[in-house]
Amino acid sequence: MAKKVVVTRQIKDEHLNQLKEKYEVFMWDSAGDPMPKKRFLEEMEDADAALTMLSEKVDAEVFEAAKELKVVSNLAVGFDNIDLEAAEKNDVIIANTPDVLTETTAELAFTLMLTSARRIIEANRELESGDWTGWSPYHMAGTDVYGKTVGIFGMGAIGAAFARRLKGFDCRVIYHNRSESKYAADLDAKLVSFDELLEQSDFVLCAAPLTEETKYKFDQEAFGKMQDHAHFINIGRGAHVVETDLKKAVETGDIAAAALDVYDGEPISKDHPFIGMDNMTLLPHIGSASVATRDDMVQLCVDNITHVLEGKAPLTQVK
Ligand code: DGY
Repeated sequence: MAKKVVVTRQIKDEHLNQLKEKYEVFMWDSAGDPMPKKRFLEEMEDADAALTMLSEKVDAEVFEAAKELKVVSNLAVGFDNIDLEAAEKNDVIIANTPDVLTETTAELAFTLMLTSARRIIEANRELESGDWTGWSPYHMAGTDVYGKTVGIFGMGAIGAAFARRLKGFDCRVIYHNRSESKYAADLDAKLVSFDELLEQSDFVLCAAPLTEETKYKFDQEAFGKMQDHAHFINIGRGAHVVETDLKKAVETGDIAAAALDVYDGEPISKDHPFIGMDNMTLLPHIGSASVATRDDMVQLCVDNITHVLEGKAPLTQVK
């Protein structure tokens, strides 16, 4: 009997057909809506592999139900949607998509930083609403990135790609990791404590993986330590941040602005407290969303599945 692969969102035929040539494939055929959990559980019962997204909670219930499961190939570098302990207990290999998305995600982080610094969203809103009354010396005057101190929380591959871009802006780069980052020497980036990062940075970027240690790291106390002209940028995960504390910090001027691609509970609705705030730049989790990168991510997911189902090691296993 052919092995079964569950794919939880629409992928292109060029990728899907590679799986279909070898396996029985169930693809949730809806571009927009995630697969309902109940249906996911049903399809997983006899699945050998799954190509999942951030929107699927692959928890103990899934691993218990999926008796044949050998590999979960997650379309993201992050894997906080997967219960790794339950995966290990059930002997399931977890794979992710590092590296292929590094430059694209760093570009988005840079976009967020510049957009926030130069008040691009606010300026565009003003123009589109017909409120632009003309040029004046300090109209929509923002802040420069050039020559500033930028603090990176999480100097992994994406943090380092972001830091490389900062070199062209003559920035001083500091970072906080548990230990020295292998990328730091080439970048002339200095390891500092979390408090030093907060206190010294003009821009703070959160690019860390979400773990028990980094969860809700950016809270009232952390924002209180940042400079009042500082901008906070988050391309990590929403749960790095206590959102009510961030809102308060921006409102009270503890920090100048925030630029976010991720939220604690996605998607957010138009009633979310951040919506409409002038000094908030908000994007709908599009860090790695260029067509070429998404193609590469899907291909890597397919390759990881075929490798495991053919008895080989996956290309990019989560350890
Ligand atoms: C990731 O890969 O973890 C990103 O958040 C998905 O865009």
